[in-house]
Amino acid sequence: MIRDQKDFISRKKAHLSICETDEAAFISKKTGFDKYDFLHHACTEVDLSKINFETDFFGLKVGYPFFISCMTGGVDDSDKINLQLAEAAAKLNIPLGLGSLRYALNKKEFDSSLIEIRSALGDAPLMGNLGAHQLISEGDNFEELKRLVKICSMDAFVIHLNPLQELLQKNGEPYFTGLKQALKKFTAQIEIPVIVKEVGSGISKKAALEMLECGVSGIDTAGAGGTSWAAVEILRNNNSKGNEFWDWGLPTSYCISTINELRNKHSFMLMGSGGINDAFSMAKAFALGADLCGSARIILQTLRKNGVDGVVELVKDWFVTMKNIMYLTGAQTLPEFDDSVLIMKEKLY
Ligand SMILES: Cc1cc2nc3c(=O)[nH]c(=O)nc-3n(C[C@H](O)[C@H](O)[C@H](O)COP(=O)(O)O)c2cc1C
Repeated sequence: MIRDQKDFISRKKAHLSICETDEAAFISKKTGFDKYDFLHHACTEVDLSKINFETDFFGLKVGYPFFISCMTGGVDDSDKINLQLAEAAAKLNIPLGLGSLRYALNKKEFDSSLIEIRSALGDAPLMGNLGAHQLISEGDNFEELKRLVKICSMDAFVIHLNPLQELLQKNGEPYFTGLKQALKKFTAQIEIPVIVKEVGSGISKKAALEMLECGVSGIDTAGAGGTSWAAVEILRNNNSKGNEFWDWGLPTSYCISTINELRNKHSFMLMGSGGINDAFSMAKAFALGADLCGSARIILQTLRKNGVDGVVELVKDWFVTMKNIMYLTGAQTLPEFDDSVLIMKEKLY
């Protein structure tokens, strides 16, 4: 096994074990959802039985506007985790993101496990995943990525932008020169929608605009307040020098509300993630403009604790609470559930 592959595997293992705990949470920075409250609407006429969460995901109908964020694959029990996540996503009919596919590039021995995940997922959407640096390294030739897209019928491809993580990671690759050119070529050549995401430091309106100009179809905020990937790398490497970056990033609520302003000129899917760890945060993300919400670490932790059914139950429970919030704020449909249902807490006192 080549050294790069060995590094990747040990890094992925460490990421999983750190993220099964709450050690890598932000310390003082929050998602910002706590600044908002819901505007109670006492004369609501919402019919709870008629609230429908079915949503369009790039032309596919999904059961809930929710996705399981990219996490893992290819090492030890990662494939088992992905299979279980696929089972949960299939039961809910929601999109599943794979972790970085770097390990599977030009290695056909991984094809069968990817095909197995596709089959466990049934007709629910599957999203591929690769880091920005790796995309740049592919040069002009995306044939291998196209092959992976084909063998497991991916429905969208996610490129993660993780400059802070690369900076703090031992043997990291904080080299993003050429990113926009690579993305433009990739979006033009790959035949499925391309989404860009962060990994917990958030995407600003300016960065989102630059990415949309490269032809991406979706922006996943992966904002600050949930899992800190600076923290993950600091913990993994005992790198106390990086500590000042532990809480670096743009809060998820800020990312969603500012990127939402781009809709007057651009058509894209806005995916709200980063610290969506409860139904109220999720509901506030929708109200601020997210089309879909997603989570990573809490899903992994729930899977480990309560298995596939635990994940299914968690998501279903969140959407029961979401229905109740819609009823109490007077929104019959998701489009009606906009920022008019929110009030800044400071205005209440
Ligand atoms: C164990 C674990 C592994 C992850 N691996 C990847 C990855 O391979 N690619 C990626 O784009 N994001 C990865 N992420 C980042 C998540 O997709 C997500 O953006 C981030 O954790 C913030 O969401 P959260 O606060 O809900 O955890 C990973 C997250 C976790 C918890």
